[in-house]
Amino acid sequence: MNNVLLHPDSQGANLSEWLSGNGGTGLENALSDPKGIIAIIEQAGLRGLGGSGFPAYKKWQFVAEQAANSDKYLICNGNEDEPGTFKDAYLLSHSPNQVIEGALITALASNINKIVFYINPEQKTSLENIRIAVEQWQTSRFFEQIEAALETSLNIRVMASSGHYIGGEETAAIESVEGNFPFPRGKPPFPAVSGVHGCPTLINNIETLANVSHILRNGAQWYQDLGNGNSAGTKIYCLSGDVLKPGVYELPMGTPLSELIFNYGGGMLLDKKVKAVFTGGASSTILTPKDIDVPLDFESVKERGSSLGTGAMIVVSEGTGIVKRVTEYVNFYAHSSCGQCPPCKTGTFYISQLLNKIDTGQASEYDLESLINLCKILPGSGRCHLLNGAMQVVDSSLIHFIDEYKSSLRP
Ligand SMILES: Cc1cc2nc3c(=O)[nH]c(=O)nc-3n(C[C@H](O)[C@H](O)[C@H](O)COP(=O)(O)O)c2cc1C
Ligand code: SF4
Repeated sequence: MNNVLLHPDSQGANLSEWLSGNGGTGLENALSDPKGIIAIIEQAGLRGLGGSGFPAYKKWQFVAEQAANSDKYLICNGNEDEPGTFKDAYLLSHSPNQVIEGALITALASNINKIVFYINPEQKTSLENIRIAVEQWQTSRFFEQIEAALETSLNIRVMASSGHYIGGEETAAIESVEGNFPFPRGKPPFPAVSGVHGCPTLINNIETLANVSHILRNGAQWYQDLGNGNSAGTKIYCLSGDVLKPGVYELPMGTPLSELIFNYGGGMLLDKKVKAVFTGGASSTILTPKDIDVPLDFESVKERGSSLGTGAMIVVSEGTGIVKRVTEYVNFYAHSSCGQCPPCKTGTFYISQLLNKIDTGQASEYDLESLINLCKILPGSGRCHLLNGAMQVVDSSLIHFIDEYKSSLRP
């Protein structure tokens, strides 16, 4: 297994141990040529690993290009509250130094002088370990060198997010950092132009940032070679559901889904057959056994009509009701809607009611038709992606399991 982020050498909260291993070399390389960092990240092909898959260098470039007459922020997004996703908490609690080194290099690349570690309050160990590690970095020899390269002081803040799922959305995170309730903002302006207190703001996921020090240490080609030609590097999967060995697994991009489930996940509980996999988290789409061979990279998963998302893979075995599972997820999204956009506030509530009715055998054919129609009308009518994500999982389940929906209707 080509572990990088989960490799034993990358673990530990003690900075001197991290620096006595391979740690620090990426930052040294970055300090020797700060202007060259973004080109290396572009050549490496690093993409956002928090769900979007957006090329990292593009966002960094936007922020770097903004005028230098105001503060610039980096939000390290560790809100992580989506059902089935637990990789960032693992990285923050087990290996905070690689995350912090990545954030420092990112700050150097985009001329950022304010870094905020934005962490789910339920993840107490993550918060504690990142706080301890940040204090060590602030007294290390690197800190002065970074401030000299930035030509200003560097401020690092570790904060607990509000704990709401919606607080992980990038503009909601900006509101939170400003001390407000995490209501997503309309775009434009994009955060790179106007984010925290109107300043240029870069937001990256914890796993994205964790890769950065390794790329700067080993080079862009090394990172490319870890992948399969479609997507570079590795991906951490949060494997859960009906498998024998659920957990976090880091595998090279392009590893087949079947290998993740049967080799690493130990196969199915009670030797049952796979019925479905919620690929990329609860707000993504479903893959069925015919796609079990799909190479897990951004492009290949997209070609099968799904997405890699956060890397959460929730495996469902034969005998499990899909309607019940989808109902549980949509209840979560209805509860998580911030309520700003009427189609999302009422839409997720109504969809959740319809699903609960179907799941308990009380729904009519008309209810099912309403559900199908809402899947066509609602996507795209909210300010942020929460509504689309909720509708995506419903729509996908209707495509693959319509018979199950029909047989759940009242006679
Ligand atoms: C409802 C919602 C919740 C989100 N929660 C998170 C989160 O907890 N962590 C995260 O990194 N990204 C989350 N995102 C995605 C962010 O908006 C953003 O795309 C991401 O932090 C960018 O980082 P990346 O480019 O490194 O992936 C969420 C998006 C939505 C719509
Ligand atoms: S789509 Fe939903 S969660 Fe997103 S801003 Fe609108 S109401 Fe809030």
